[in-house]
This record gives sequence, structure tokens and C-alpha cells, in this order.
Amino acid sequence: MKNLSACVYIVGAGPGNPDLLTVRAQSILMNADVILFADSLVSKEILQLCKPDAEIIRTANKTLEDIVPIMIGEVRTQKSVVRLHSGDPSLYSAINEQMQLLSEADIPFEVVPGISAFQAAAASLKVELTVPGLVQTIILTRISGRTEVPAKEELSSLAAHQASLCLYLAARHVENAQAKLLEHYSADTPIAICYRLGWDDEKIRVVPLSQMADCTHKEDLIRTTLYVISPALEKFASGIIQERSRLYHPEHTHLFRPRGMGK
Ligand SMILES: C[S@@+](CC[C@H](N)C(=O)[O-])C[C@H]1O[C@@H](n2cnc3c(N)ncnc32)[C@H](O)[C@@H]1O
Repeated sequence: MKNLSACVYIVGAGPGNPDLLTVRAQSILMNADVILFADSLVSKEILQLCKPDAEIIRTANKTLEDIVPIMIGEVRTQKSVVRLHSGDPSLYSAINEQMQLLSEADIPFEVVPGISAFQAAAASLKVELTVPGLVQTIILTRISGRTEVPAKEELSSLAAHQASLCLYLAARHVENAQAKLLEHYSADTPIAICYRLGWDDEKIRVVPLSQMADCTHKEDLIRTTLYVISPALEKFASGIIQERSRLYHPEHTHLFRPRGMGK
């Protein structure tokens, strides 16, 4: 990736630590001319990968109206531009409007995926969020704040599925979130409160749902917090052995492991 094109690379920076960047993201960052990054959400350690003469532009205090013309101007002078977002850009990153404006201006762009907070949380918790016989669905959602969640996606109606539910952008509305979850999950369902995953001050607390709000406030886990509520977290409550997947089961055959192989 030494010779980057004059285009915008919309790059997912993962949860925080630079070693959770994809190889492609790392290589683009190491070679880009201009990097625009949200200083409140992306770790500065990641910027150490950039070449010494790269222009670094912080965007926390900028609007879309400031940011997009900068990207367009730089690409038009044949620069490669990285727009760095936390986690994976497909989730709560406001890239839709950026891509629309870039397309209208005929500016080429590429999206590079990153590890989202829910994946980092599952890895830190050492849980599979889809355990056979227990849960096979993951819901990624948020609670209404300044951005409204459509009524048909109300948290209480999603909670009715009792799936593995990963709740973004909710810490400032934690009482409301807890009340809605309690409509369907029992009060003793374990919930993981995952604060600043992948950062030096990362904290993870697994508590009964009834203590979700209390724990968030008591430990001041307000900024950059993801909640995971899932039947797959039961092991934290009871130490039960969960059902195994059929995928690697000796009686389960498939194209690459026909009957009789491996015996
Ligand atoms: C604007 S959204 C961006 C989400 C991001 N695109 C992703 O895929 O993780 C910010 C929210 O994502 C969650 N989040 C992002 N990074 C996190 C991290 N390192 N630890 C915990 N939660 C995180 C929190 O819910 C935070 O309020």
C-alpha cells in the first residue's frame, strides 16, 4: 500500500489499541498524507503510526461543513486523505452524509472496516455471543439521545427477543435503558458494562441488570461505554456449561469433513 491514491480512506480505528487495527488500516495510516481524526474517540497512540510529515487534523470541534471541504480540497491537490473513525465505520459514525457529499463532489473514497466495540467486548469477556441452544442473534442498538431511535426499534421491543443485545451510546441514559431492559430480561440477568475497551483505563464490570445504573454512576463509567446483555453471560452468574456448537462436532459432516474423515 506504499502508493496510496488521491482519495479519501474512511478507516475504522477499532476500539483503541493500535494492535487492533486491520493490516490494511495500518498500512494506509502509515502512508497517508492527511489524517482527519475525532480526538475524543480515537487513541493518540494510533497516530504514532503516521509518517512524520503527515498533516494531522483534529475534528472534535469541527462540523461536517468544515470537514468535507477539507477532504475535498486535499484530494483535489492529489493528497491521500484518511478519515479515521472509532470502531467500525458502519456503526454510529455519521459516514453516510460524508460519503454522499464526497460522491456529489466526484471524490473517490474507500471504506476500511474496523473492530467494533461489541467485538472487542466479547473478546475481553471471553464469550461467544451466539451459543447454540441459548442465543443465535445479536442486536446492535442504542438509546435515543440527541439522535432519535425510530419508534419501531424501541429498546423495550428489541429486548423482548432476549437476544445478545449490545447497547451503544447509552451511559447518559442508563436509568431509562435499565428500565426498558427490565421489561423483558430478569433483574438478575448479567450485564457487562464495558468502559473504554482497549484503552489504558479500560474497566469491565459484570453485574446483575438491576445494578446497571447504580454501577455505572458509582464507578463513573459514563463516557465511551458499551453495555452487553446476553444469555451467553450466564457463565458469570452460574458457571454452567453451555451447549456446544455442531460445527466441530464429530457427528456433524460437511463438504470439507465428509463422514469417516478424521477418525
Ligand atoms: C459514536 S459511537 C461509535 C461506535 C464505533 N463506530 C464502533 O463500531 O464501536 C461511540 C459509542 O461506541 C461505543 N464504543 C466505542 N468505542 C468503545 C470502546 N473502546 N469501549 C467501549 N465502548 C465503545 C460506546 O457506546 C460509545 O458511546
